[in-house]
Amino acid sequence: METVLLAGGAGYIGSHTAVELLNSGYEVVVVDNYYNSCPESIKRVEQITGKTVKLYEGDVKDHSIIRTIFKENKIDCVIHFAGLKAVGESVAKPILYYRNNIDTTLTLLECMEEAGVENIIFSSSATVYGEENPVPYNEDMKKGSCTNPYGWTKSMMEQILTDATVANKNLSLVLLRYFNPIGAHESGMIGEDPQGIPNNLMPYVAQVAVGRREQLTIFGNDYPTPDGTCRRDYIHVVDLAKGHVKAVEYALAHKGVEIINLGTGTPYSVTEIVESFEKSTGVEIKHVYGDRRPGDLPESYADADKAWKLLGWKAEKSLEDMCRDTWNWQSKNPNGYEK
Ligand code: NAD
Ligand code: WQD
Repeated sequence: METVLLAGGAGYIGSHTAVELLNSGYEVVVVDNYYNSCPESIKRVEQITGKTVKLYEGDVKDHSIIRTIFKENKIDCVIHFAGLKAVGESVAKPILYYRNNIDTTLTLLECMEEAGVENIIFSSSATVYGEENPVPYNEDMKKGSCTNPYGWTKSMMEQILTDATVANKNLSLVLLRYFNPIGAHESGMIGEDPQGIPNNLMPYVAQVAVGRREQLTIFGNDYPTPDGTCRRDYIHVVDLAKGHVKAVEYALAHKGVEIINLGTGTPYSVTEIVESFEKSTGVEIKHVYGDRRPGDLPESYADADKAWKLLGWKAEKSLEDMCRDTWNWQSKNPNGYEK
């Protein structure tokens, strides 16, 4: 069976993808510097699946570790998750973000070329549709203007990867544009474990529920949406992980570039998320309304048709599943992995 290298695979999406790849019969190799994760997530992946992951500690910007991995393993496909992703931090530390996100991409491409590895899947983001495009976003739209350096790194990395694939006809590239991944594996053994104060909505809600934060501030209720709060396309991380398995199959069988949205196509507002979490878990989420957060768009959701047509993939889990599984993970691991 084929072997997949997960760069940044100890993180939130990488660990869930490792489970789905192992369950589908793939061999999995992970490289991570634990900047935003810890090896415990991979131990738990092994417990969930009863299979072994070959784990390397190292920086994806470092050619020597990637060369070693390609020498020691026959890698058929790379999935590039290794990035910094905190939007606010990217505004404060743009150089760190450009250096890490762009350099990891270049190092992977250079080492792939040397070793003759021809397939790569990239973790991109709906953020590249920018401010100009109308919802629902489809893959034929021109990319727009991003509202922060994090978004620009994604847009630039898409360009770099696409140029490399146009130049090398043997390459196969799938740019996966994720919408808003939330939830956790149904075992409650792996999940999202943000450092410090969570930036994203669902981890914040979960930490209010478990008593780590006093209350949620809802950023703005005067948007042009049905209830005045922003609407997003929340997708269960296990559905997202299964989309990666399909993308690997696709990349192994084709050449060239494909851009594919991974979303549900159905938006929910911040207020609907809070209500759904309370209903599915029975835990009250104390919340107040505050100012808008700079850079937030009123609405972001996918046209999810291409993923269905090309990959035969669509999201299957409900918002209730997303809330229940988030709570299962958070209540079993109130302080995350406790590194
Ligand atoms: P995460 O932070 O949990 O995972 C990223 C992993 O990459 C971490 O384990 C981190 O330690 C590792 N990493 C970062 N830089 C590295 C480097 N130089 N060398 C080695 N390892 C490095 O984040 P995630 O939510 O799992 O996201 C995975 C990818 O998906 C990221 O590229 C992110 O930008 C992208 N993405 C995430 C979301 C989201 O909402 N979570 C949405 C769209 C796109
Ligand atoms: C969702 C909604 C907030 C926190 C970000 C990145 C994107 C992608 C996914 C990351 C918004 C509101 C949030 C809070 C709130 N990539 N909110 N109170 O901004 O849609 O997307 O994560 O790697 O590129 O921009 O997600 O979860 O931060 O916010 O009211 O304490 O929740 O205003 O409307 P977002 P989010």
